[in-house]
Amino acid sequence: DWTASNIIEDSVARIRQQVGTKRVVLGLSGGVDSSVTAALLHRAIGDQLTCVFVDNGLLRLGEAEQVVATFDRHMGVNVLHIDAAERFLDALRGVEDPEEKRRIIGRLFVEVFDEQAAKLDDVAFLAQGTIYPDVVESADSSGGKAHVIKSHHNVGGLPDYMQLELVEPLRELFKDEVRRIGLELGLPADMIHRHPFPGPGLGVRILGEVRKEYADLLRRADAIFIQELRQAGWYERTSQAFAVFLPVRSVGVTGDGRRYEHVVALRAVETVDFMTARWAHLPYDFLDHVSRRIINEIEGISRVVYDISGKPPATIEWE
Ligand code: XMP
Repeated sequence: DWTASNIIEDSVARIRQQVGTKRVVLGLSGGVDSSVTAALLHRAIGDQLTCVFVDNGLLRLGEAEQVVATFDRHMGVNVLHIDAAERFLDALRGVEDPEEKRRIIGRLFVEVFDEQAAKLDDVAFLAQGTIYPDVVESADSSGGKAHVIKSHHNVGGLPDYMQLELVEPLRELFKDEVRRIGLELGLPADMIHRHPFPGPGLGVRILGEVRKEYADLLRRADAIFIQELRQAGWYERTSQAFAVFLPVRSVGVTGDGRRYEHVVALRAVETVDFMTARWAHLPYDFLDHVSRRIINEIEGISRVVYDISGKPPATIEWE
């Protein structure tokens, strides 16, 4: 019968059988799937696992530190924390088209990951957090966005110079099963119940050209929004929530005069499958409080708007 500990025991045995004494490399994003894969592999093969965490400069506030703290410091997992922010931002300079930005971010991720993996001695396996719905989506020849998403997220193809075999211990599991296993393996509940975050990160939440100064402002606004959602008990009642940076400027007045600064949009949705979504009917008082905090605390943002568009036609992300 299905219990998390049975599944773990079974997976651990299968991983050991497959891997033997060889080494495994895993691209750790901090998302649910890659995190649970890392925890499971660590349980099975300990030090034979090396995780590569690529900081692309487009992560949320404190995110890199959090991932490294959880895996490296608390669990004793080997994690290579690669700060590639400058490289990503350089490559994105002047690029405004959303799909072009996605391509650049995806390509660079693979490049950086491969460089690190190539430095490791006798790696024979690449672990991926592929779950059952990904397998089904990939088999679907219509090949929609989900396909593109996973091909980026899950590293997409092995580098030619390495003949790595895949280890995909979550391949037969649904998301809720993955979550239960993660909890059983001792991953923090807030990591397991985190809203999804797109591979290209803030790169598609800064409309148009990505700049470091925009990313810094957006990170702070997003953190305020999420913190308030958690505090108000709304985080669990929404499927995804985030701030979007709009590179337009709008006039504002404050005690000390006129401001002419940027705009942030807040988006929160409720959805089951992410194919359709309803905008979350957050209380006005709550929105008021968040808006005031963002404008008061973040110099450079003088206006906050709330996105009241459903999907369809509006996608969940703005780009
Ligand atoms: P949309 O914006 O298409 O998003 O309504 C549906 C879900 O997919 C996520 N998303 C992405 N995830 N790479 C990802 O890994 C991407 O390029 C990407 N674009 C959208 C989005 O956050 C939402 O959960």
